[in-house]
Amino acid sequence: MLVTLKEILKIAEAKKIAIGSFNTTGLECCEAVIGAAEELGQPVIIMHAQVHEEMGLTTLDVIGRVMMMMAERASVPVCVHLDHGTDLAYLKKALDLGFTSIMYDGSTLPYAENLANTCVAVEMAKRYGASVEAEMGSMGIRDKSPDDPDSLYTDPEAAVSFVRDSHIDALACAFGTVHGLYFTEPKLDFARLEKIDKLIDIPLVMHGGSGVSDEDYRHVISLGIRKINYYTYMAKAAGSAVADFENKLYFHDIAVCATRAMRENARHAIEVFSNLTSDKA
Ligand code: 13P
Repeated sequence: MLVTLKEILKIAEAKKIAIGSFNTTGLECCEAVIGAAEELGQPVIIMHAQVHEEMGLTTLDVIGRVMMMMAERASVPVCVHLDHGTDLAYLKKALDLGFTSIMYDGSTLPYAENLANTCVAVEMAKRYGASVEAEMGSMGIRDKSPDDPDSLYTDPEAAVSFVRDSHIDALACAFGTVHGLYFTEPKLDFARLEKIDKLIDIPLVMHGGSGVSDEDYRHVISLGIRKINYYTYMAKAAGSAVADFENKLYFHDIAVCATRAMRENARHAIEVFSNLTSDKA
């Protein structure tokens, strides 16, 4: 059941939950994530990140078609999203494949340029009936609290004008999370998030979402986060499972072992994001 980001985040808002949004770098990831969501009967977002093509992990042309096919066949609502598109032509390619949502990432550009390109992405997506997420602020440097968070994290007042002038459907905000592994506990700026949520009435997105404690997930969801981007710790769970796996002769056995580990990891994340776990804060 294919849905747009706007539609899926409406479900999240009504239930005051966050939708797990997983990078699917291969067929095994797609099976793990959609399988976990179907098992729990929860909506889910699957994403292809432009950088994963640049890293040689997969191509939009191939994995995008797999994602679309699996989303259409799923028994739960699935949004197929392009993550961190920095190039407008690449965003168009995703829309041509049927992606129901794109993220334009101009976060490293000056405000005016980020806004202008985001507006182009919004106009383009509108022609396909797709949604748009954009980002303001930067994720910062891993394991190093920035000396001046104001220069790095999302500025609540600037975010108001950015959202108003761009007409995006969801805003990715920077408030202390980073992509990849955490080597020290992440320190999130909850006060900043609360302020952004009070000023802005579209759903908020947390990137660098894996590796955060369940308690912090519940806290950010209570402060308006409706989409949590998640990949690294799911991929790490697969890596650890394969490292411990004794039967490594054939790739197909390794792939099954990795898929099971990712599915288990994604299932736990979706349970927490959907408020299904019993140890509620
Ligand atoms: P993690 O690296 O924390 O899994 O975050 C993924 C992400 O934010 C993709 O946009």
